[in-house]
Amino acid sequence: MKLKRILPFAKQLLEEAINEGDIVVDATIGNGHDTVFLAQLVGKQGHVYGFDIQEQALLNTVERLKTNNLQERVTLSQQGHHFISSVIPEEKHGLISGAMFNLGYLPGGDPSIVTNFETTISAIKQLLHVMKPEGMIVIVVYHGHPEGKIERDELMSFVERIDSSVAHVLKYQFINKQNNPPYIVAIEKC
Ligand SMILES: C[S@@+](CC[C@H](N)C(=O)[O-])C[C@H]1O[C@@H](n2cnc3c(N)ncnc32)[C@H](O)[C@@H]1O
Repeated sequence: MKLKRILPFAKQLLEEAINEGDIVVDATIGNGHDTVFLAQLVGKQGHVYGFDIQEQALLNTVERLKTNNLQERVTLSQQGHHFISSVIPEEKHGLISGAMFNLGYLPGGDPSIVTNFETTISAIKQLLHVMKPEGMIVIVVYHGHPEGKIERDELMSFVERIDSSVAHVLKYQFINKQNNPPYIVAIEKC
């Protein structure tokens, strides 16, 4: 047996939570790799709502979706993920089964533009409100950069205090690797 590495495990969690036809969220679209993955999971009848604050991320993601002929399954928004509840139409609330966050900065982009704990926590709170029971939020925490450490600490202190009647919270981390490797926080709504 081989322990699942971080990104494959993140994907496995979402594969198990998401079915064809579902509504899901890519909270940090970046270069669109996760958006394509999610769009494939939800199939033709499902939909992905994607968020990023950088125009470059939207351009890169549109390109990747076009290459994979998936653009019709996705609505992209150049807004922070703390607008999740207002961007996703109310009639879709309660149908959301999965959400993915890849924290940090855009690979190949400006490393000074990073996710931050205030909006990350705000988005998680909103998702816990609008997701369906057993909906899964998967967060890949990159904490090698200075702001990443602040975001990690604030995020952990928030998720550790989520009432266990509201959600189950899992941390998946390799603890003997050097250089602050990323780890997963998975939040399953009760
Ligand atoms: C590590 S990258 C995401 C990688 C991406 N999932 C992929 O598949 O390529 C993090 C992204 O979060 C974006 N970001 C930063 N703050 C944000 C916010 N408040 N809301 C949404 N996205 C944000 C950054 O612009 C960056 O593109």
